[in-house]
Amino acid sequence: MGFATALTCTQLYPHFPHLLLLLLLLNISDLHVNAQLSSSFYETSCPTVVTVVEGVVRQAIEAEARMAASLLRLHFHDCFVHGCDGPVLLDDTATVTGEKTALPNNNSIRGFEVVDEIKSAVEAVCNATVSCADILALAANASATLVGGPSWTVLLGRRDATNPASIAEVTAALPNPNSDMPTIIGRFAAVGLNVEDTVALSGGHTIGQARCVSFSARLYNFSGTGAPDPAIDADFLASLQSTCPQGGDANVLRPLDATTADTFDVGYYSNLQSNRGLLQSDQELTSDANTAPLTAPQGEIRLNCHVVNSA
Ligand code: HEM
Ligand SMILES: *[C@@H]1O[C@H](CO)[C@@H](O)[C@H](O)[C@H]1NC(C)=O
Ligand SMILES: *[C@@H]1O[C@H](CO)[C@@H](O)[C@H](O)[C@H]1NC(C)=O
Ligand SMILES: *[C@@H]1O[C@H](CO)[C@@H](O)[C@H](O)[C@H]1NC(C)=O
Ligand SMILES: *[C@@H]1O[C@H](CO)[C@@H](O)[C@H](O)[C@H]1NC(C)=O
Repeated sequence: MGFATALTCTQLYPHFPHLLLLLLLLNISDLHVNAQLSSSFYETSCPTVVTVVEGVVRQAIEAEARMAASLLRLHFHDCFVHGCDGPVLLDDTATVTGEKTALPNNNSIRGFEVVDEIKSAVEAVCNATVSCADILALAANASATLVGGPSWTVLLGRRDATNPASIAEVTAALPNPNSDMPTIIGRFAAVGLNVEDTVALSGGHTIGQARCVSFSARLYNFSGTGAPDPAIDADFLASLQSTCPQGGDANVLRPLDATTADTFDVGYYSNLQSNRGLLQSDQELTSDANTAPLTAPQGEIRLNCHVVNSA
């Protein structure tokens, strides 16, 4: 894996300035468009939606810088499974287990209360008009730009799915932090993304935090070898082991970008080059998905992002 890392970093790092490749992920469901999606979708039905979303996101980030990361990740997880259609926000019901408790999401994805605030603010100006999926897409764009990252053209007009994916589908679609490079590339390829896209999109880890449980295997028993991942810088390994002792609290957090955790910058990639990537999937490089979006008359405009309208 050290070999794979060296290869991918030196070959692909030069492409990083094209961070706008991020739009590949974030508009992933739009690759297979569907002329019904457009950046001006709400121009007449909800002309203030971009401003309203940005206002709530700005306040949320002022209250907690990490929220930019959490909102960006929600959009990624929404888009990776079944395209960007909002089921990641659904609560469990008596009949359906939502995506929130799937392994990659359980005790991990966050920001739902901010999404609710955005939804309320949007409903107050344009009732039953803007989907929860579009709110996630707009919130991701606002989040990235507010912490110094790129903005992108956000195609709008997605509808919210009424059927969440099964836990098994979520687990099969989302990449795993302990996956090796071929596995990660395979998952991205499965949704139409190539190796360069994978590397560019992994740049989302320039912000945000991960729990010890997401990376402690590589600190103590990398790939079942009984030893740490040889690709981790020695000082960085000691520091991570002290944060995440064996048998310790699995929910303790470390920044994904060891140098500039709250800023959308190239620090993440520099860290990889000095073997200070936090997740195995970072050090190996990873990422994303792609399916057709729901557009009218399919799906619905969910009134409460936690439940389908008929519930
Ligand atoms: C390459 C495949 C990927 C893997 C294996 C992966 C895995 C993870 C893991 C394990 C965490 C920490 C979760 C926890 O410990 O609770 C995380 C956090 C995060 N991921 Fe990814 N991820 C990938 C791709 C992406 C992409 C493409 C984006 C967006 C462009 C993204 C954005 C984020 C953000 C912003 C966080 C921090 C969230 C927060 O602090 O609340 N990830 N990811
Ligand atoms: C989700 O996490 C909770 C602990 O907070 C645990 O009880 C539950 O079993 C987990 N669910 C899944 C599907 O892993
Ligand atoms: C918003 O629209 C829905 C569906 O048309 C309706 O049930 C609800 O009462 C409306 N809410 C407000 C505050 O107007
Ligand atoms: C994306 O964010 C930028 C910067 O905040 C903003 O100017 C732009 O209008 C946003 N685009 C959309 C469609 O939200
Ligand atoms: C390391 O992982 C392997 C495979 O998962 C397991 O069989 C082995 O018992 C583990 N070793 C230690 C020391 O935990």
